[in-house]
Amino acid sequence: MIKVPYTLILSGLLAAGSIQSASAVDVSAEVMADAIHDVIEADRAVYVDLVIHRLVDEEEVIEATEEYNDDVTLPLPAQMLRASAEKVREKNSGFSFSLVSPWPINSQNKVKTEAEVKGMDFILKNPTKNYYGEETIAGKKYFTALYADIAVSKSCVDCHNNHKDSAKKDFKVLDVMGAVLVRIPLDK
Ligand code: HEC
Repeated sequence: MIKVPYTLILSGLLAAGSIQSASAVDVSAEVMADAIHDVIEADRAVYVDLVIHRLVDEEEVIEATEEYNDDVTLPLPAQMLRASAEKVREKNSGFSFSLVSPWPINSQNKVKTEAEVKGMDFILKNPTKNYYGEETIAGKKYFTALYADIAVSKSCVDCHNNHKDSAKKDFKVLDVMGAVLVRIPLDK
């Protein structure tokens, strides 16, 4: 397993503060990727439960739509994820995450690098497993992890199957619709 001294970054993430601990413990890239994935998934679930379900489905006070700016509605969960991923990218730390798929609605989400394509194939064949790999992009080494993104409800399937930009129109409930990608830089 690859060990990288990501203690400070990880504790920063968890405590949202800058902990300058003297007793640094190495955290493996895999453990770090898993922890980040947990946070991404939790944020997405919380947005769906506390905002979308409550305001759209229960209270019916607002819609959630793709054109949320023009429509003055709430953004979709995938758009929230993209927005936070873009904020993280602005930090230029080399660390990144995104929702990817071989049949994306948004072409920017298409699996691109060899590891992404390999990881997606692996997950489609083994939906209960995660993919972990290493890759070099522009001369820099990365740890790349992919986690299955499953069609947990009929709304996932209906929206994607009926979307004009979706390259796949026959998703079924519980299919793998794509993956959450977490990429961690390994070089100092
Ligand atoms: C109301 C429509 C809608 C619903 C419901 C919906 N999605 Fe999406 N999904 C989108 C749109 C639009 C995007 C592209 C967002 C962007 O610009 O990155 C997207 C992006 C994605 C992507 C990235 C690849 C791509 O297609 O661009 C995955 C994977 C995905 N959704 C899975 C899901 C899952 C799983 C669910 C259910 C839990 C779900 N979606 C529910 C509209 C929807």
